[in-house]
Amino acid sequence: MTIFAERDSTLIYSDPLMLLAIIEQRLDRLLPVESERDCVGLAMREGALAPGKRIRPVLLMLAAHDLGYRDELSGLLDFACAVEMVHAASLILDDIPCMDDAELRRGRPTIHRQFGEPVAILAAVALLSRAFGVIALADGISSQAKTQAVAELSHSVGIQGLVQGQFLDLTEGGQPRSADAIQLTNHFKTSALFSAAMQMAAIIAGAPLASREKLHRFARDLGQAFQLLDDLTDGQSDTGKDAHQDVGKSTLVNMLGSKAVEKRLRDHLRRADRHLASACDSGYATRHFVQAWFDKKLAMVG
Ligand code: IPE
Ligand code: IPE
Ligand code: MG
Ligand code: MG
Ligand code: MG
Repeated sequence: MTIFAERDSTLIYSDPLMLLAIIEQRLDRLLPVESERDCVGLAMREGALAPGKRIRPVLLMLAAHDLGYRDELSGLLDFACAVEMVHAASLILDDIPCMDDAELRRGRPTIHRQFGEPVAILAAVALLSRAFGVIALADGISSQAKTQAVAELSHSVGIQGLVQGQFLDLTEGGQPRSADAIQLTNHFKTSALFSAAMQMAAIIAGAPLASREKLHRFARDLGQAFQLLDDLTDGQSDTGKDAHQDVGKSTLVNMLGSKAVEKRLRDHLRRADRHLASACDSGYATRHFVQAWFDKKLAMVG
């Protein structure tokens, strides 16, 4: 058993840093490498375990707790790690030369620069497939919940999610597009995975359909806010990513300017909070976390 398993679960959910630590510990166990010659396995580990913010798995766990989930931690952790694996795969693919051609990710050379492009692509595919395997084998979760979780997560990856967002960004991002078109792209590339994470929290907690709909709306606004924050920080040198990746790209920041985007971001956050408050009317951990997280990030932007 992990060193965290015996701790009071309330303590875990009241401390996002502790959540982050147990998520990383679980990810580490879920991605073993048997030999130093297993380049794909090493690339998978590097892609998933390099120091990321872990906002999606943390939110999944907090929301499940707010929705009343008090059962075994390990199944919930596996759901959270599956979402993080999908996210890590999307970052590896986003960075390769035919996509954003990025050099730095999480403060380190991108996966294709460390391992070569073929291994990077294979590692991304393997992480995606591992994510669904982890859900299938999650401890203490009903088959019905697992099936629903797979449906949500696969939807968020596919043509109504990350894949569509990436395609639109690559095909339309280099030319002028309307604010609505940018928002739609951001919905697919960023909100969709937040939505899957929230739906998986609701599924594991057995939340009613009405809560699931409110959580979907929360994720829609949260994803928009999150992508705007990412776009606002494009010129900064402390993100662990290549600065100025978005030069010449039709982002809302380049179209409307930082001040207007910051206002839009805060509007999205207000709406997100309203949806979240009505979805989880007896738990506040997720609301507190989101508010504190964005307050801290926006203080660094402004
Ligand atoms: C980056 O996601 C991709 C976007 C959707 C903007 P994160 O900002 O969550 O990246 P990590 O996981 O912390 O590296
Ligand atoms: C990518 O958006 C979103 C993904 C789902 C990968 P970006 O291309 O803006 O993400 P970063 O800035 O490289 O993290
Ligand atoms: Mg991109
Ligand atoms: Mg990118
Ligand atoms: Mg970006």
